[in-house]
Amino acid sequence: MTLINLQCRLAARPIGLPKASDWDFAEEPAPEPEEGQFRVQVDYLSVDPAMRSWMNAGRSYVPPVEIGEVMRAGGIGHVIESRHPDHAVGEVVYGVFGVQRYALSDGRGVTRVDTSLGSAPMQLGVLGTGGLTAYFGLLDIGRPEPGQTVVVSGAAGSVGSIAGQIARIKGCRVVGIAGGADKCQWLVDELGFDAAIDYKAGDVRGQLRLHAPDGVDVFFDNVGGEILEEVLRRLARGARIVVCGAVSQYNSEGVPKGPGNYMQLLVARASMTGFVVFDYADRYAEGLAQLASWLESGELRSREDVVHGDIRQFPEALLGLFEGANTGKLVLALDSEG
Ligand SMILES: NC(=O)c1ccc[n+]([C@@H]2O[C@H](COP(=O)([O-])OP(=O)(O)OC[C@H]3O[C@@H](n4cnc5c(N)ncnc54)[C@H](OP(=O)(O)O)[C@@H]3O)[C@@H](O)[C@H]2O)c1
Repeated sequence: MTLINLQCRLAARPIGLPKASDWDFAEEPAPEPEEGQFRVQVDYLSVDPAMRSWMNAGRSYVPPVEIGEVMRAGGIGHVIESRHPDHAVGEVVYGVFGVQRYALSDGRGVTRVDTSLGSAPMQLGVLGTGGLTAYFGLLDIGRPEPGQTVVVSGAAGSVGSIAGQIARIKGCRVVGIAGGADKCQWLVDELGFDAAIDYKAGDVRGQLRLHAPDGVDVFFDNVGGEILEEVLRRLARGARIVVCGAVSQYNSEGVPKGPGNYMQLLVARASMTGFVVFDYADRYAEGLAQLASWLESGELRSREDVVHGDIRQFPEALLGLFEGANTGKLVLALDSEG
């Protein structure tokens, strides 16, 4: 039987917030695997803010998606046909399969998913890139010490919700910044943050003064922009700012807004360091073992925001991230007939 592959391809480089017409959809017969290849049916797509930056031309930590190319995406699927010695039909695998229903692979960059550790959406979040980003970014770059104050922006998202909990596990006082009262309540009531600031309600400055009276020792920043400027005003001496991302700037039409008050770094003898999780690949096993153990003991909790649909739902799902539609890790689960 010939399988028809529905693909989402980049049609245009967006200016500002992407529009539906920046992608198009194509259906074509899925090619047969050749010797050394296998075919995956993609079941879950990871929906990430970074996808927006992959749509731009220019230098970044990965090459841009080219016009006409299938939109890049990590995903989990199962092997449905194999001419590869190491991958058998039925295996559940993770890979950068793209926003499409069927993907061919030669096995490079593909890992087997241990489904006994957690659900597929968890493996795309807390037990995947999101959890690892939180783990290495906070511990290696942030270097929090017990009793210190750690502030996390984007705190109710995939990376932020895990970073804040790791800081709590390490004995820190944790303040989350997130959009909306419900998210803030979840952070405090369910995840054990000491306080949460609803930046959409305004007065981030006053709330930071209240909840970080002695200053901020570690700022794990997912958001950039104005929130970064506000935290820079409250740094404790020797503070570390972890530049994980800057989601508030990903759709800016001009040059992203940088902190005008960066001289606060000098005043506080502070550092601001960017990192890319891929650089920790040789330590992923360590990170995953620790995250899995915290999950098992109940010290760490995860939440997955699973949207069901087909490939055509991808643009809407991605755009939802920029409105804060998700709590926890956003995953698009592909309908079995889609
Ligand atoms: N350095 C690395 O290696 C690495 C790896 C993975 C991810 N990242 C970065 O980590 C960050 C978080 O990624 P994620 O996958 O965990 O996404 P996420 O936090 O689950 O989703 C994005 C969240 O950003 C918030 N947001 C959107 N627009 C905003 C704005 N204008 N101002 C403030 N907040 C805004 C929304 O929450 P609210 O409702 O709170 O606004 C939304 O839920 C991103 O910056 C991403 O690029 C970095």
